[in-house]
Amino acid sequence: MKNRTKCVTQVLKIDNTNFTEIIKKSGTIIKNGGTVVFPTETVYGLGADALNPDAVAKIFQAKGRPADNPLIVHIASKEQVHDITEDIPHQAFELMDTFWPGALTLILKRKDIVPDITTAGLDTVAVRLPDNTIAVGLIKEAGTPIAAPSANISGRPSPTTAEHVIFDLTGKVDAIIDGGAVEIGVESTVVDVTSDIPVILRPGGVSIDEIQKCVGEIAVGYSDRKVEDGETVRSPGMKYTHYSPQTTVVLVEGNNAETTAAVSAKISEIVEDYHRIGMRVGLMLTEETEQEISCGGCGFCVIDISSCEVFMLGNRDEPEDAARNLFAGLRYLDEMDVDVIIVDGSMTHEGVGAAVLNRLRKAADEIIEM
Ligand code: TXA
Ligand code: MG
Repeated sequence: MKNRTKCVTQVLKIDNTNFTEIIKKSGTIIKNGGTVVFPTETVYGLGADALNPDAVAKIFQAKGRPADNPLIVHIASKEQVHDITEDIPHQAFELMDTFWPGALTLILKRKDIVPDITTAGLDTVAVRLPDNTIAVGLIKEAGTPIAAPSANISGRPSPTTAEHVIFDLTGKVDAIIDGGAVEIGVESTVVDVTSDIPVILRPGGVSIDEIQKCVGEIAVGYSDRKVEDGETVRSPGMKYTHYSPQTTVVLVEGNNAETTAAVSAKISEIVEDYHRIGMRVGLMLTEETEQEISCGGCGFCVIDISSCEVFMLGNRDEPEDAARNLFAGLRYLDEMDVDVIIVDGSMTHEGVGAAVLNRLRKAADEIIEM
């Protein structure tokens, strides 16, 4: 393949008035073997024709993605799954019927039509039907399934707005469809259905509880910690650094009634420590922790957070808010030129909270458990 060091990137702002025109234009780019970034309900994806090896190579190049990390293939209808996979087990049909279109990716046995580069040589392929009219419109228009990883430079937080994509990928992709902020904010849940018991390979937009309710027994095949060199993993993506800003991230965790107060106290304490040595601090906080550490004039507040850059995640009990804000917060604080980012991990681990905690733990350089 020709080495594409730089290309002109068109930014296409889409709305009701120009929908058909933008989809046509973007579909043509995909048909011609180019790359188009598009919104999905989870995060923005960097798309190319999944069945065209030269087009898929451009995705790996634009992201700087290791060649052994396979891509998710996006389809526009449930029926299209039969074009690219075979031997679909019954649990997979139950999951598709319940969660598609939606934030669920299934690992299935691939057909030969899917090139090696898309699956990184595996005999399985990751498939998802997204719940987003722009994404589905584009796949239909292109007339081919679209391979799309999250549209960030490898290792960086996933993009939840077109601005994030423009920052990472200008000059590296042919077009970016700007469809505004995404709804969910963390990536899809990845489930391997090629073994008798479905295995969760990545927590995401669909909660593990919901999947269990649908198929009964499941196995958990992911870990929240960073994987050591040489360790065997079931999903290639697990090996690599993820979601990381350049700035050091410290996560302070504790999500039950006894530990949340301790989280606030710990954050106060370490902010003070950092301030004492002249470091600039970025804080990512839940509403409750913000109140506990800065109630103002109570006489007990230890720190003055007005001297910190603060980004609010939402309430502890509403993980959907944290999911929506998480990656934007990491990117924002990274831009604020702080020396350290302290993240409040006192939100619930229920529902999409499991995915939020998973991303935070992977982004963190240090985790303090209360
Ligand atoms: O929500 C999402 O899933 C977004 C949007 C754009 O759809 N996409 C996304 O793609 O997050 P990506 O490439 O960032 O993550 C795909 C994950 C990786 O961890 C990869 O290793 C895993 O899925 N994966 C892909 N194919 C696989 C396979 N055949 N077996 C096991 N894991 C696979
Ligand atoms: Mg990704």
